[in-house]
Amino acid sequence: MSEKKNLRLTLKVWRQDGPQDQGRFETYELDNVNPDWSFLEMLDILNMKLVRDGKEPIAFESDCREGICGTCGFVVNGRAHGHLHKTTVCQLHMRHFKDGETIVIEPFRATAFPVLKDLIIDRTAMDFILKRGGYISVNVGSPPDANTIPVPKHNADKAFDFATCIGCGACVAACPNASAALFTSAKITHLALLPHGHPEREKRVAEMLTAMEEQGFGGCSNTYACEVECPKGISITGIAKANLEYWRAKLKGH
Ligand code: SF4
Ligand code: FES
Repeated sequence: MSEKKNLRLTLKVWRQDGPQDQGRFETYELDNVNPDWSFLEMLDILNMKLVRDGKEPIAFESDCREGICGTCGFVVNGRAHGHLHKTTVCQLHMRHFKDGETIVIEPFRATAFPVLKDLIIDRTAMDFILKRGGYISVNVGSPPDANTIPVPKHNADKAFDFATCIGCGACVAACPNASAALFTSAKITHLALLPHGHPEREKRVAEMLTAMEEQGFGGCSNTYACEVECPKGISITGIAKANLEYWRAKLKGH
């Protein structure tokens, strides 16, 4: 059995004291990095070292550390959530990096995502989009028997796929236009595929797409970068579906 060698890394980390600060990269050397640590555990260890040396620890967000909550996103070596496909940065492990490697770490960059501190960005712009229709507000009464509202299996499966969006914002960070089209379309498509999303279908797409523009996100120009970087593998076909929903709503006078 081959023993995994601990790594020696050079970390270039974006440090920014607050929203008004210009920010700069600072370089840290870290020895003895266990390949089984997650990327965030590696930052935890670096932060312990910084605190021991009387320095300010690096501010970054995390909650679940299981790829579920969407709070942990930042850019690693130019890739949102790092280079591993369909993986959040909290689920990225150090065994995917080489001994002696230099790793550049910076926050997601987008006009709609101001940097609050170091790697922490303000993602409330996405909440504003959700507030305009990413839910069902009609009174649907008590839960009916499962088989009284048949949902085709194909639709149920697709709706579930779009519902797995965790709102991390990596699609925005990856997009050259800083568009939130993948995120917004995931919510629109998820509910458009299910019968209980239909009563507010037209209003939802009109409101959410308007909110996306109002919040300063760019438009989609089909680069597919969002789909490549999305840790949940949300398909860009959702954007085509949301466009169809948009024209459908417009024809119905919304
Ligand atoms: S579509 Fe993907 S990348 Fe965008 S917010 Fe949802 S999970 Fe994150
Ligand atoms: S900490 Fe929850 S998805 Fe990474």
